[in-house]
Amino acid sequence: TRPLKVALLGCGVVGSEVARIMTTHADDLAARIGAPVELAGVAVRRPDKVRGGIAPELITTDATALVKRGDIDVVVEVIGGIEPARTLITTAFEHGASVVSANKALLAQDGAGLYEAAARHGKDLYYEAAVAGAIPLIRPLRESLAGDKINRVMGIVNGTTNFILDKMDSTGAGYQEALDEATALGYAEADPTADVEGFDAAAKAAILAGIAFHTRVRLDDVYREGMTEVTAADFASAKRMGCTIKLLAICERAADGASVTARVHPAMIPLSHPLASVREAYNAVFVEAEAAGRLMFYGPGAGGAPTASAVLGDVVAVCRNRLNEATGPGESAYAQLPVSSMGEV
Ligand code: NDP
Ligand code: HSE
Repeated sequence: TRPLKVALLGCGVVGSEVARIMTTHADDLAARIGAPVELAGVAVRRPDKVRGGIAPELITTDATALVKRGDIDVVVEVIGGIEPARTLITTAFEHGASVVSANKALLAQDGAGLYEAAARHGKDLYYEAAVAGAIPLIRPLRESLAGDKINRVMGIVNGTTNFILDKMDSTGAGYQEALDEATALGYAEADPTADVEGFDAAAKAAILAGIAFHTRVRLDDVYREGMTEVTAADFASAKRMGCTIKLLAICERAADGASVTARVHPAMIPLSHPLASVREAYNAVFVEAEAAGRLMFYGPGAGGAPTASAVLGDVVAVCRNRLNEATGPGESAYAQLPVSSMGEV
């Protein structure tokens, strides 16, 4: 069987781990897919940066030429941001590749456009890594729970802010000190404002609400309040009430089913609640579905290796689809429900 070719766009915190796992687990991946997977090129901004384990001839600064090659099966986009990521992804579809992305900012701004481009060219768009790092959440919502009716998705979806809030609460660390540590550990976005002001969690809420409620939800539809104003005094008050403080994303279907709400804000959580014990950069998400009942998804929500695990899972799925000349699930937004930013608290 011919090798399947993967182009990696971006080789930072996440991309370098994707490349490492692809190389070290090459035999296992080939066995699981039914064909070898080959790293065909790696696009970066700074070609001279040392990237251990990657053959120098694979490195390029011309991401556009890489996605236009025509022999690429899967483009993995781990650059981040809106442009050039969006154009590179749509160009990849035009030139015959399927796409795996971890880019929640782009998916929350223009998921519909990306889905349309994928469908137009009969290609796959997978993005498990875009929400909650290593935790399988997108595929359970898109596939395993596709026969159920989801009414609520709620939880901690940003590792950086959970790390900061946890450190402030448990060690009394200052906000800036904790943010610097989260950044050094590779949890924070390139601009950590996206984390601390709640944009990253709001993007994830938009993606989750769209899939869960089969409607289109964009970043701007989500009520957003960050955690920069949470102080040590707030933690002291919370503690007196038997609570702690977490940044929550809450997506709900209205009781009459006619609209949905999505919001992100800090909230007091009783210490007895499972979310109160989510430490460091872990995430936890509750999904409430009519037939399934209440499900909890928990695990590492950020960082290079956990996120690369989710990316590689998508690469395997897309490669299997290619070998079967099939595609996975596309967009399932058949109802355009009104989206408001606040529901019942
Ligand atoms: P990094 O900033 O660590 O890496 C970005 C990579 O993209 C770098 O290798 C950079 O090149 C490259 N790059 C930037 N611009 C271009 C360009 N124009 N052409 C080619 N390459 C370019 O980001 P992360 O790895 O942390 O994040 C990547 C994506 O994954 C983002 O969408 C992020 O939101 C998402 N994500 C991140 C998680 C995390 O925990 N870090 C978790 C889940 C998702 P160079 O190395 O030369 O600078
Ligand atoms: N910056 C993000 C976070 C990365 O801290 O959750 C994972 O999506």
